[in-house]
Parts: sequence; structure tokens; C-alpha cells
Amino acid sequence: MQLNNKTVVVTGAARGLGRAYCEALAAEGSNVVAADIRDTKETVEAVASTGGKAIGVHLDVTEMASCEAMARSAIEAFGQIDSLINNAALYGDISGGRFDQISDEQWNNVMNVNIKGIWQCCKACVPELRAAGGGTIINISSLAATYGMPYALDYAMSKAAVIGITRSLARELGRDWIRVNSVAPSAVLTEGTEGFMGEKREKTLAVIAGNQSLGVNLEPKDMVGTIIFLVSDASRFITGQTIMVDGGTTLL
Ligand SMILES: NC(=O)c1ccc[n+]([C@@H]2O[C@H](COP(=O)([O-])OP(=O)(O)OC[C@H]3O[C@@H](n4cnc5c(N)ncnc54)[C@H](O)[C@@H]3O)[C@@H](O)[C@H]2O)c1
Repeated sequence: MQLNNKTVVVTGAARGLGRAYCEALAAEGSNVVAADIRDTKETVEAVASTGGKAIGVHLDVTEMASCEAMARSAIEAFGQIDSLINNAALYGDISGGRFDQISDEQWNNVMNVNIKGIWQCCKACVPELRAAGGGTIINISSLAATYGMPYALDYAMSKAAVIGITRSLARELGRDWIRVNSVAPSAVLTEGTEGFMGEKREKTLAVIAGNQSLGVNLEPKDMVGTIIFLVSDASRFITGQTIMVDGGTTLL
């Protein structure tokens, strides 16, 4: 197993992709801290059912005290933090709409959770990554940032900011041997995607798949290999990058 003795914090771990990351990381030998504003009981049980080690932590990424408490819980349970996966976001809990019809409240909430939340989780966890002698941060961006996404200006902007956070932090933390990368998925078939796309789901998914070289929408299992790679030492000279897991939509 590639990740024995590593402790990985996954935010937004109650369902969807966050849960898939927890299960896959635990299967590779990681201790997992499953953190979410929702109850993470099902994620922790899923990890335990296959013999993995996980704790569930209540986390609101918009509250600095909550982020600090999450880091403390991780240390109490496992003694160190090696990786932070900033996956929590307002995605399935918001719906798309024309750019001029997004409410002020939704705009502010999206920026608060999707951008400030990452900054705050980094502030809480980076001292522990340093104490562990280095580590990795993975920030979840989106095809919405790399390709552009109509009817989701707030979400797309927040995910573009994730790439800026990633590049700047990679330069700032490299000498501490903390690698910071971003992953930008295309549409993945999750509960969140159902919530986000609503009644336009089938049509939107067909358009997104049609823009791909591979032509097929992703399932959560299609995401986990990249996450494991970026957490692992196999990627030890990769930092500041955004890896598109989008079936060949955005080509560099
Ligand atoms: N599913 C996709 O198609 C897709 C595509 C590109 C990027 N992404 C990104 O991947 C991530 C996961 O996507 P998903 O499909 O599982 O979506 P999701 O909406 O199901 O998951 C988001 C998780 O974040 C949690 N969360 C929300 N606000 C929080 C807060 N204040 N504090 C802590 N946790 C909070 C939610 O409870 C939820 O469990 C998100 O960052 C999303 O933007 C998803």
C-alpha cells in the first residue's frame, strides 16, 4: 500500500467525491480524517467496513475556530497530518442560473465556502504539515474554471480562484517541502451534480460528455487514482499544478 502511516484530512467528506476519496485513501493505508458540515458517519462506517481507519469530524470551513478544532482532532487521533484535501464546496447545495440572477447571498456564500474555506483549512493544517516534515495539499477546482461554465459564474469564479491559491501557496510553501496541487474534474456522476444541475441534468451532462475526447461522464472511482498519486511520494516533484481529470476536454 502506497500511503501507509500517512494521515489525510478530507473536507467535504460526508458524501460524493469526498467520501470516495476517504475510502480510496484508507484502502491505500492512510489514516483518514473525514470532515464535513454534514454528518460523516456513513463515510467513517464505509472505511471501517473494509478495515480502514477513519474518524469523523464536524467542520464548517467558514469558521476559523472550527478549522482549528478539526486539526486538533486529527492530531489527537493520529498524531500528525500529512495531507489536506480541500474538497468541501458549495456545489450540490447551490443551483446554476443566469449571471445576473445570482443573489448577493449566494455569491457571498460561494466565495466564503469555496475560497475562504480553503485558506482557513490551510491556515489550520499547515503548521501540522510542517511539524510532520512536509506534506501535500490538494485543492479541488473544476472544469468550470479551466473551460468556463455558463450559468454558474459564482461557482466558476470560485474554482478559478482555487487555481490561484494553489499556485501561490505552492511557491510559498515549497521550501517547507509542502506540495500544493489542484485537481479539476469534469462532471462526475454524484448526488452533488444532481443537485447542481437539477432538471437540466441530462442535457447538461450530454453537452459536457460531448466536449470530451473520451466522450463519457466520470464516476467517482475515476477521480481517486489522481488523488492517491498526488498524496503519494510518486508525485514528489510535482507542485503548483492543476491536473485536469476531464476526459480530455481542456488540453494544455
Ligand atoms: N461532482 C462534479 O461533477 C464535480 C466537478 C468538478 C468539481 N467538483 C468539486 O468536487 C468537490 C466535491 O463534489 P461533490 O460532487 O461530491 O459535491 P457535494 O456538493 O456533494 O460535496 C460537497 C461537500 O462539501 C460539504 N460542505 C459544504 N459546505 C461546507 C462547509 N461550510 N464546511 C464543511 N463542509 C462543507 C457538503 O456538506 C458536501 O458534503 C467539490 O469541491 C466540487 O466543487 C465536483
